[in-house]
Amino acid sequence: MDKIKSGNYRVVSGITPSGSSMHIGNYFGMAKPAIELQENSGGAFLFIADLHALTTVHNSEELKGNITNVVLDYLALGLDPDKATFFRQSDVPEHSLLTVVLGNYISYGHMKRMHAFKDKLQKGTNQDSINMGLFNYPILMAADILLYKPDGVPVGEDQRQHVEITRDMAESFNKAYGKEIFPLPEAVISKETGKIVGTDGKRKMSKSLGNIIGIFEDESLIKKQIMSSYTDPNRKKSTDPGKVEGNPVFQYHDLINDDKSEVEDLKKRYREGKVGDVEVKDRLFTAHMRLFDPARKRRKELENNLDLVREILEKGAEKAGEISKKTMTEVYETLGIRNQLNV
Ligand code: TRP
Repeated sequence: MDKIKSGNYRVVSGITPSGSSMHIGNYFGMAKPAIELQENSGGAFLFIADLHALTTVHNSEELKGNITNVVLDYLALGLDPDKATFFRQSDVPEHSLLTVVLGNYISYGHMKRMHAFKDKLQKGTNQDSINMGLFNYPILMAADILLYKPDGVPVGEDQRQHVEITRDMAESFNKAYGKEIFPLPEAVISKETGKIVGTDGKRKMSKSLGNIIGIFEDESLIKKQIMSSYTDPNRKKSTDPGKVEGNPVFQYHDLINDDKSEVEDLKKRYREGKVGDVEVKDRLFTAHMRLFDPARKRRKELENNLDLVREILEKGAEKAGEISKKTMTEVYETLGIRNQLNV
């Protein structure tokens, strides 16, 4: 990730609004690294991939809520619209326009090998009933990326293949017209991304598994989520020596608790059987409130000032639009779609 921050390196990344409000797994696995990209000197284009959410969300109230939640979450957690270009995909129509073009530079056979599509098949869905939005998902994603001609695309491991197919589309487009219209972007995969274990101690933290620790929920709920977290199952009494490694509560302490000497002290006492699970969790709760309190307050303010949020998104779309319009004109010229009949 270091090269991202140095020099004139441009990045593009999308956030699909397919779920409800953010939990600490989303934050440390995805949102925090995405927000840090705004420090990148070559420019960071971060957008809400609302059109991508249509592959799974077919309920307008739900989608409206998801989009609002993710926008408010990111702004509350520190996304600075003066640093990153932050916008909604659907507000920049060039994403859709370029999708229509790019589909002509990739084969059906190649598309059939994409994971997102194949995963559905493995889950028992019949190939003929898969919606074309899901099948075409990588083409929309390629358009998202190529419009801005970035150097890198920070994504989770599961999206590596989509960046590769984006390069393939760019390459075959460039080759067809004998010009380098689209520089080939590289996937930038962060190793930690998406590896935060849930409070069941077994599976990845995920809303649908009910093993989350929230960020913006009521204090009492967050406290409950923390207090019921899995720790060391072999420890019966607080005087038994406990295991720190692989213990989710200590993983959360490492992520959340900015008082590192407290964390070291708790780990030491836990190993020696000199601290109870309740105290370890209590201190985790206190650290959570300390870390996220500013974001929780900011989110409430933003909820009450949606005019400001609309303004931020409008400005972001304007900035993104300047670049994407330029690229689209260049593409139409290259194709021969723009000709002597255009003004
Ligand atoms: N498909 C990505 C995901 O599920 C989100 C996304 C959409 C994206 N368009 C993008 C990521 C463009 C990077 C660049 O995580």
